[in-house]
Amino acid sequence: MTGSCGVDFGTSNSALAAVGEGGVELLRFEEESATTPSAVFYPPGAARPLFGRGAMRAFSEGEEGRFMRSLKRILGSALMGQGTLVNGRRKSFESILADFIGGLKSSAEARFGRELDGVVMGRPVRFVDDDPEADAQAQNSLEAVARGVGFRHVEFQFEPIAAAFAHERKLESEKLALIVDIGGGTSDFTLIRLSRERARKFDRSADILANSGVRIGGNDFDRDFNLDSFMPHLGYRTIYGEKNLPLPAGMFLEMSEWAKVNFLYTQKTRLTAKELLRESHEPRKFGRFLKLLQDETGHRLLASVEEGKLALTAREEARIDLGFIEGGWRLGVSRAAFDAAAARRVEGISQAITESLTQAGLSEGAVELIILTGGTTEIPALRRAVLERFPRAAISEEEKLSSVGLGLGYDALRRFGVEA
Ligand SMILES: Nc1ncnc2c1ncn2[C@@H]1O[C@H](COP(=O)(O)OP(=O)(O)OP(=O)(O)O)[C@@H](O)[C@H]1O
Ligand SMILES: [Mg+2]
Repeated sequence: MTGSCGVDFGTSNSALAAVGEGGVELLRFEEESATTPSAVFYPPGAARPLFGRGAMRAFSEGEEGRFMRSLKRILGSALMGQGTLVNGRRKSFESILADFIGGLKSSAEARFGRELDGVVMGRPVRFVDDDPEADAQAQNSLEAVARGVGFRHVEFQFEPIAAAFAHERKLESEKLALIVDIGGGTSDFTLIRLSRERARKFDRSADILANSGVRIGGNDFDRDFNLDSFMPHLGYRTIYGEKNLPLPAGMFLEMSEWAKVNFLYTQKTRLTAKELLRESHEPRKFGRFLKLLQDETGHRLLASVEEGKLALTAREEARIDLGFIEGGWRLGVSRAAFDAAAARRVEGISQAITESLTQAGLSEGAVELIILTGGTTEIPALRRAVLERFPRAAISEEEKLSSVGLGLGYDALRRFGVEA
């Protein structure tokens, strides 16, 4: 018997929901969690990489090997064609994505005891902003990866629509809903009429009033927070030489993105940094940056920045342990500084919501229900900015991290039936 599933391949976390005779069921990872980190770790010489929490563990314990995260952000970008070095060998991004998505597929097949050959893959409303060709390329690459790992029927659904499908089954009455899905890589919005009766229709196009999205997600909040609150302590915006020039910004920018950090680990960059250090006016700070390059611990810094962001969701201030850069160093960070760094992104997200309302020809007052999904909707300033626009709407935010995956499973059931 073969079957189908929905796959939410997220920038930070992924989920899979399989269709079976008993309905739609989320694959559990490590026995309980409905999501797994979208991460892979390649230990040198090993036949197979580690995935998800295993990959995160190997990375945080400092094991030797190549760690990769935020792979979805590469789709539709120029990096996609380039490939990368993994333990000294060139590997294409397609094959890295295939390792991860193929890993999800085989775990699910082992768990559910059947071959899965149909899939509804989630996709953001926009992988890439203002470039329809690159956006189409991103979906094509993902489709090629899905076919490459053995899915014979591959369809796509917008992630916020999938989240709507997951919530719809619990509604008592019809609602005009706005889905706000802000994850690690993108912010996605759908205005849709939901009800249990409508859920039975095959064609939902008349219920969908607008879709909009922008390539802003938790990774961007991390990046801006990093550049404002961390990198200045590592020499960013400090000066060097007799002409009092600022240190070149490019390397600091690369050091704040998961997908780019590895490009900095070359002999040439280390030599350039050493030369700049000799002329630096604040060598203690820039020396820390050189240490990251020498120890290849950029990813650890990014993890610390994200940890800081999470701490500031719960508290006004936090201290982040950066002892791996300089013995005993604990950097104080504040919610106020985080909010200042985040303001531009919050504004960009707010504009995308306006775009959605404009597309539908509706005003805020027409929205009856806000469905919040995606981890980044936890950021206090962002929540406030979104929710204060809709004071009359009800708010629903259950199963924030797995509702897209579950909804994609329902969509697979709708499209493929119980047996694909
Ligand atoms: N408490 C929190 N406060 C702030 N941010 C959070 C919190 N919890 C999770 N996040 C952020 O949410 C993001 C992950 O959310 P989610 O799992 O919904 O994304 P994703 O589905 O992988 O991404 P996408 O849908 O954009 O591809 C990360 O950037 C993470 O740092
Ligand atoms: Mg998501």
